[in-house]
Amino acid sequence: MAEVELTGVAGDLDAAVADLAERFRAALEAPARATAEHDSPTLRARFEEPLPEDGMPVEAILGQLEERSAGGLAGSTGGRYFGYVTGASLPAAAIVEAWTAAVDQNVGMWPLGPAAVELEQVTLGWLADLLGYPWAGSAGGKATGAQRETGPPKAGPGSGYFGSGATMANTVALGVARHWFGRKHGIDVGEEGVRALPPLAVYGSVELHLSDHKALRTLGLGSGCVRAIPIDGAYAMEVEALVAAIERDLEAGVEPAIVIAQAGSVNTGASDPLDAIAEVCERYGLWLHVDGAFGAFFRLCERTAPLVRGMERADSLAVDAHKWLNVPNGVGFALIRDGELHHETFRGSAGYLTPGSGVNIHEFAFEASRSWRGACVWAALKALGRRGVEDLVTRCCDLAAELAAIVEEQPRLELAAPAPTNIVCFRYVREGMDPEAANRTIQAEVAASGRVFHTGATLDGRFCQRAAISSWRTTSDDVQALADEVLRVGDGL
Ligand SMILES: Cc1ncc(COP(=O)(O)O)c(C=O)c1O
Repeated sequence: MAEVELTGVAGDLDAAVADLAERFRAALEAPARATAEHDSPTLRARFEEPLPEDGMPVEAILGQLEERSAGGLAGSTGGRYFGYVTGASLPAAAIVEAWTAAVDQNVGMWPLGPAAVELEQVTLGWLADLLGYPWAGSAGGKATGAQRETGPPKAGPGSGYFGSGATMANTVALGVARHWFGRKHGIDVGEEGVRALPPLAVYGSVELHLSDHKALRTLGLGSGCVRAIPIDGAYAMEVEALVAAIERDLEAGVEPAIVIAQAGSVNTGASDPLDAIAEVCERYGLWLHVDGAFGAFFRLCERTAPLVRGMERADSLAVDAHKWLNVPNGVGFALIRDGELHHETFRGSAGYLTPGSGVNIHEFAFEASRSWRGACVWAALKALGRRGVEDLVTRCCDLAAELAAIVEEQPRLELAAPAPTNIVCFRYVREGMDPEAANRTIQAEVAASGRVFHTGATLDGRFCQRAAISSWRTTSDDVQALADEVLRVGDGL
C-alpha cells in the first residue's frame, strides 16, 4: 500500500521550535502599546484568503501569524491596561500553558489525561485553601439538623471544576443549585426538566453580573426569575430589601430558591455583605452562590478581607483565574461545598466511555473533552506561592488607593463611586462642560492613543472613567500615567 505523506507535520521542527522560543521570549516582554492600532476591516483583510489548498512548512506559520497580528493585539499583558478586570499572564503560567498544548491531554476522562486530572484536583484544593473555602469537609457541616431538612446540604467533601472563566463557573454552580432545588421537591431536574419545578425566585443585586443572568437563561430558569435587589451607597446589596423581596415571594406563592451575592461587582469592585446574606439564606433555607470572579481574592489583602467575610459560608463559589491570578485567558473555576451533589448534577456515562482509576471530570460540568486548563493555574500558584498572591492582590489594591488619592487631589477629577478595592470609577469635571459627552470622548480618545487603556462604566445613568487594577505588571508610574492621560485629553477639549 502506498504511504500517504502528510503535510502539516512537514518542515523543519527544530527551526520551528527555535523560532517559537525567540518569539515567545519577546512576547513575554510588556507590549509597546496598550491597545491595537488597526480597525476591524484592516485586520480582517490581513487574514482574508481562500482556504489554503496545500499546506505550508511548519517553521513559517508562526511568523506569518505574528506578522498579520502586528498592531492588532490588545496590550493586556502590559501594566497600562486597566480595562475590564484583566490580569497580565505570568511568564510561568504562559510557559506551562504552551507546553500543555504540545502534550495535548484531554482532561474530560481520567484515562485520557491521568496526570492532568490529578494535578487539577490538587490545584482546586490549593485554591480552596487560598480562598478559605471549605474543602474536603474541613469546614463544612455548619448547618443544624433542622436547617439541613430545608436548606442546601452543607457537609463536604467539596469539589470543583476548571471552566473557561467565571461565566462557565457561574453556570456550573447554578446548575448544581438548580439540581439541589429540584431534589428538595423530589424532582430530578436533569430528567424531568425545569418544567417540573414549582415557581421559584432568585435574588441578586441590581449590579448582578450579566454572566449570572446568562447562566440562569442557559439553565432554563430564565433571568426573569431574578429579583433585582437595590444597592446602598457602597454599591452593595441591601439586606433588608433582600428579606422584603423574599417575604413578598413567599406571600405570592413563589418559592425563594437561590441568592447570588457578589464578591466584587464588576462596575465598582464593591462586595455584597456576604455574612449577613448567608444569615438570610440559612434562615430561609436558600442556596447561596457567590460570584467572586475577581473579588474572591479580596480575602488576601488585609484591608479588603473584611469586605468578603462570610464568603466561606457559600454553597458554591465562582472565581476567575484569568483575572487576578494572572494566567492566560480561558480559565476560571467553581468550588462546590457538597461534592456529592455536584457529581449527581452532571454524572453520566455511555457505552464507549471506559473509565480508569481516577476522577472523570466530564461528570462535574457540561464539557466532555477539554484542555488541561488547570495546569497554568498550578504554575501561577507554584510561581507566586500563597505569599506572592497576597502581595499581588495587596499591591493592586494599594495602587487603586493611589489612583483614588490622585483623583481626589486633582480639582478637575472626582470619584464617581467609593473605591475600597481594585477598581476606581471617576469623572473629568470642568465648569461649563457637559460631563457626559466629555467623559465619553475622553475614554475613547485615551484608548485610541494607545498609551494606556481603560474602559468606561455607567453608574446611576452617568458615564464615568473606570480603571481596574489586576496586573502583576502595574506600578505607580502606570496609574499616574492614566490620570495624566485623562487630564491631557480632558484639558484639550
Ligand atoms: C463579577 C463577575 N462575574 C462574572 C464575570 C465573567 O467572567 P468571564 O469573562 O471570565 O466569563 C466577570 C467578568 O468580568 C465578573 O466581573
